[in-house]
Amino acid sequence: MGMKITLSVIKADLGSIAGHHMPHPDQLAAVTKMLAEAKQKGLIVDFYVTHVGDDIQLIMTHTKGPDHPDIHGLAWDAFKAATKVARELKLYAAGQDLLSEAFSGNVKGLGPGVAELEMEEREAEPVITFHADKTEPGAFNLPLFRVFADPFNTAGLVIDPKMHDGFVFEVYDVFEGRSVLLKSPEEMYDILALIGTPGRYIVRRVYRKSDNLLAAVVSVERLNLIAGRYVGKDDPVAIVRTQHGLPAVGEVLEAFSFPHLVAGWMRGSHHGPLMPVPMRYARVTRFDGPPRVIALGWNISNGKLIGPADLFDDVAFDETRRLAQFITEYMRRHGPFMPHRLGPEEMEYTTLPLVLEKLKDRFVKSEEAKIVKKHSDMLSGS
Ligand code: F6R
Ligand code: MG
Ligand code: MG
Repeated sequence: MGMKITLSVIKADLGSIAGHHMPHPDQLAAVTKMLAEAKQKGLIVDFYVTHVGDDIQLIMTHTKGPDHPDIHGLAWDAFKAATKVARELKLYAAGQDLLSEAFSGNVKGLGPGVAELEMEEREAEPVITFHADKTEPGAFNLPLFRVFADPFNTAGLVIDPKMHDGFVFEVYDVFEGRSVLLKSPEEMYDILALIGTPGRYIVRRVYRKSDNLLAAVVSVERLNLIAGRYVGKDDPVAIVRTQHGLPAVGEVLEAFSFPHLVAGWMRGSHHGPLMPVPMRYARVTRFDGPPRVIALGWNISNGKLIGPADLFDDVAFDETRRLAQFITEYMRRHGPFMPHRLGPEEMEYTTLPLVLEKLKDRFVKSEEAKIVKKHSDMLSGS
């Protein structure tokens, strides 16, 4: 057993080139400079900066534990620096995810998305970080269920004695701000009853049942709920530990071979397939999408980030991407109709109240409705 290391993945959309497409290289450079200085000072052990679509991703290791004000403060300052560049270049939606001017020790609730996992480094510590754009944290529900609870996905659940007891899912209700621990396989149907509503119930953490080892963490910020108004979609990140008594890297990636439908895409208001892509394709174009996810493979070595391995950069995912393209075409053909367009309660832009207000005096009660009402009263004896 080695030292305790925290892997912190903190992300934000601070503005981008040509719409909500991708950040400018100067923003990434500004952020990198700040993290390099922090590494030199010894605040963090190591870091990596990248982006997915319009979201800048900070991947950092340190020994300060989750929710540490110095680490969150560093992320905040880095995001401010990226925002400054965005303003100078007049990039689009500069500073979008920084909802406040004031920082009070933790970025949670202020806009950025956060996933942090503290670990006792194993002899070898293989970890995957997932970073998605144009979708929401619940997008990870289906693949994480497959990884940690579905024996048709994860062979190790059946044949690895260390995993055979199963896993515990912490499911978070974003509306109520409370969570529940549910065991798999015993409570599998209860887990599914909740997480099948990914806009509300989110798989937030997964623990190995036999020893409570924390195996996965997902960011749970929902920007629209934080701000109470549309401020952009809450594009999520996740961390998954792998191998040696945990799902193998290939078992984790296998869950992404099905491009399931997620909410997000254009104007945060459409369903579309989640397309696994290599880093070079992590730019959203068609109808501001389709939603996509990258998987970065790491080994953590005394806190050093060894990697990344660009895990979806493999022909083995070409057919998944092709299926995602077919689904994209199929969904797009619905235009403004549900279920391509989200239901009114989930949409982040909506003119519906305005349309209803405008038409309110033009609605007339139908004669048929009156007759049907009379008959139903008669039938119920009232
Ligand atoms: C979705 C997203 C984009 C924008 C769209 C319109 O999360 O970021 O699809 O919603 O490009 O953006 P505005 O309203 O800024 O013109
Ligand atoms: Mg944006
Ligand atoms: Mg985004």
